[in-house]
Amino acid sequence: NMYDVIIPAAGMGKRMQANKNKVLLELSGKTILEHTLQAFQDDNNCRAIHLAAQSEELEMFRTFALQYHKLDVITEGGSERQYSIYNVLKAIKPCEYVFVHDAARPFVTRETLQKLYAAVQLRKSAIAAVKVKDTIKRVHGTEVKGTLNRDELWQIQTPQAFEYHTLLAAYEKAERDQFLGTDDASLVERIEKVSIVESDYDNIKLTTPEDMYFAEAILKKRGII
Ligand code: CTP
Ligand code: MG
Repeated sequence: NMYDVIIPAAGMGKRMQANKNKVLLELSGKTILEHTLQAFQDDNNCRAIHLAAQSEELEMFRTFALQYHKLDVITEGGSERQYSIYNVLKAIKPCEYVFVHDAARPFVTRETLQKLYAAVQLRKSAIAAVKVKDTIKRVHGTEVKGTLNRDELWQIQTPQAFEYHTLLAAYEKAERDQFLGTDDASLVERIEKVSIVESDYDNIKLTTPEDMYFAEAILKKRGII
């Protein structure tokens, strides 16, 4: 069997304020995107890597295929992450399992990839998550409306793993219903049960400028710099 991975990399990186797509920022001599590609290139259960790119970056991303032999389809992204992923999903050949993973999460570990692959085969849809550390409250304006039970709260990451036909059906239904979700599982949850796999706190999404300091610390911890 094995899985294919869809990596959305077609964002603008506005919150990173780098004046370019943040996945092209460098960490120890390689772009964030290349760190992410490497994680899947190195995973024996990954068959092929498919990317969503901005139209202006399609050609540059194609040059990465020389180093990353699993890199297959590179498709133009859309105005929202969900549309970028849907474009890729429609462009690839049907397969058994599909992972979706943000290009902006370069620190995903082999262990998380293995756990997810085991989980998707056993329990179908499975997503990486960590326990919430802070207390989370619901607030309207500035008024606290309530405190959520932290034992039930998980912070959801990517990778998210699905059967191909389930993910495609979920995206088609979202399109019909004009449903826009913030992650892939929120689309799949509308048709099927989703389960979590405990991941780790290093699997951060590089989103704002201070995340680049955390990134350096993680690279140091791993002995890469
Ligand atoms: N992404 C995408 N297509 C979009 C928007 C986002 O492929 N239209 C990708 C990004 O490149 C990123 C991932 O989805 O790898 C997660 O999105 P996010 O962290 O929000 O990245 P950006 O949208 O680029 O950043 P921002 O929201 O700050 O502009
Ligand atoms: Mg975004």
